[in-house]
Amino acid sequence: MKFSFAKPSLPASGVLAVTVAADRGLGPLGRELDQKTGGALARAMAAGRFTGKKDETLTLLAPAGTELDRILLVGIGKGADLTDLILQAAGGAIAVALDKATEEAALLVELPEGATQSPAAAAAEIAFGAQLRSYKFDKYRTNDRKADKKEPKPSLRKLTLLVEEEGAAKAAFKKLDTLADAIRFTRDLVSEPANVIYPESLAEKTKELEQFGVEVEILDQKKLKKIGMGALLGVAQGSAFEPRVVVMRWNGNPDADDKRPVAFIGKGVTFDSGGISIKGAAGMEDMKWDMGGSATVIGTMYALAARKAKVNAIGIVGLVENMPSGTAQRPGDIVTSLSGQTIEVINTDAEGRLVLADCLWYAQDVYKPKLMIDLATLTGAVIVALGHEHAGLFANDDDLAMNLTAAGLKVGQPVWRMPLGDAYDKEIESPAADMKNTGSGGGAGSIVGAQFLKRFVNDVPWAHIDIAGVAWAKKDGATVPKGASAFGVRLLDRFVADFHEG
Ligand code: BES
Ligand code: MN
Ligand code: ZN
Repeated sequence: MKFSFAKPSLPASGVLAVTVAADRGLGPLGRELDQKTGGALARAMAAGRFTGKKDETLTLLAPAGTELDRILLVGIGKGADLTDLILQAAGGAIAVALDKATEEAALLVELPEGATQSPAAAAAEIAFGAQLRSYKFDKYRTNDRKADKKEPKPSLRKLTLLVEEEGAAKAAFKKLDTLADAIRFTRDLVSEPANVIYPESLAEKTKELEQFGVEVEILDQKKLKKIGMGALLGVAQGSAFEPRVVVMRWNGNPDADDKRPVAFIGKGVTFDSGGISIKGAAGMEDMKWDMGGSATVIGTMYALAARKAKVNAIGIVGLVENMPSGTAQRPGDIVTSLSGQTIEVINTDAEGRLVLADCLWYAQDVYKPKLMIDLATLTGAVIVALGHEHAGLFANDDDLAMNLTAAGLKVGQPVWRMPLGDAYDKEIESPAADMKNTGSGGGAGSIVGAQFLKRFVNDVPWAHIDIAGVAWAKKDGATVPKGASAFGVRLLDRFVADFHEG
C-alpha cells in the first residue's frame, strides 16, 4: 500500500477515517466534522456502543452535511495508555475496515491528551500497522485478476495521513516501511510452496540482499561434504534437491571495539515430510513452512542491512528438504556431525536439530560470534506447551534471555523462557553413538530438542527460539493476517537496536 502525509484539514469528499480517544473523545477537527454532520458522529457512537476503546471501529455511510462517502471511527483509547502497538493495531483495523470499501482514503490523526508519542510518530506507527496488516499472498489466484470478472472488488491502495508535522511523519514512516519490506520478503518466502522454494531456489533468493550491502556466500553440496556437515547432509540425502547452506554477512560497524558479530542461525527445511519416519497425511502441507526459521534469519539480515544498522551480524541458514526415498536416511543410521560428535538417528522426523547442529557449530567455529541465536520450527511439543501466543525460548545465558524477552514484548512477538537441565540431556544418550536425535518419548519434547542443540554450543551465549507455534498464523491478528507471520524479524531487529548497536 502507498502512504502519503499532509497537513490536517477536513476533506470535502471521499472516505475519511478519524481516530477517537476513550469516552468518545474527538479532536478539534473531529468535533468540527461532528458539527457539520449535525451531530451524526456522536449519535452513531452512542447508537453503535462505540466508546473509543482500542480495537473498536464504527462505520458511517454517506453522512448528511458532507459529501463524504464514508466515515470510519477508529478507537485508540486513553492517552496515557497509548503504545506503539496500539497505534499499529489501529492501522491494521483501518486496513481491514476499508480494504473492500475503497481504493483510496484519508485518515485524520488526532491524539488524546496525555499521549507520549508525537502526532507525527503516531501517524507513522499507524501507517506501519496498516502496511503490515494489508499483506496478501495472492500471486497464484489468477481468477481474481481476470478482466471479465463482474464487479471486481476494490482494494485499499492509498492512505493519506492528515497530521501536523507531516514531514516528520513521512521520515519516521520511511524507516518503518523498510522494516515492513523485510517482513513482506520473509512472508513471501514462507508462503511459497515447496515446489517453488527448495534449497537451491531459497539460496538464490538470499542474493537479493546484496543490493543492501550484505555479503552472501552459498555453500553447495560438494562444499558441505568437504567440510563435513554429516548431520545436515544425512537429512538432505533422500531428496532430489541438493542442500545448501547460506552465510550472510552485514558489517555495519567495522570500527567497533568488539568486532565479533552477533550470529543468527535458521532452520530451513523447505519441506518436512518426516522422511522414512513419515508424517501422517493430515496437515502435511503445513510443512512447506518448516523453513520459517531460515526466512526469519534472512528477513532480519534484510532489515538490518536496509536500515544500515551499526552492528556486525551474520546469518546462517541450513537449507534441506526432508523426503523419504531409496536414498533417504534410515532410522538407526549413525552420522558424524561437523563437530565430530556422532548421532544415532532414531527418528528421521527430528531433522531440524540435525541441520542446526552443523550450522551452529559452523557459526561458532568459523565466525567466533559474541552470541548466537537460532530460530526453528523445531517441535510440535512447543505448541502443546505454549500454543500460538508465545514462542519457546531456551538460553544458556540469563542476560540474553532477558533481552530477547524484552524486545519481544515491545514489538508484540512474545517469547517465554523454558528450562534446560542435565536431567533432560540424559534423554538423548545413545548406546551406539555420542547421542541420539530423540528422547524416549517421556514428554518435554521441546526441551529435549533444545538439549540436543546445546551439545553443539561451546562457551558462547546462545539462545534457541522454537517458533513452531507462531511461524504461521491460523487466524487474523491485529497486524498479521492469517498465514506467514515472519515471527522473529521484528523481535531480532529490536533486539539489535536496543542492545547491540553503536
Ligand atoms: N517441523 C517439525 C515440527 C513441527 C510440527 C512444526 C508441527 C510445526 C508444526 C519437526 O521437524 C518435527 O517433525 N518434530 C518432531 C520431533 C519428534 C520426532 C521428536 C515432532 O515435533 O513431532
Ligand atoms: Mn520433522
Ligand atoms: Zn521439521
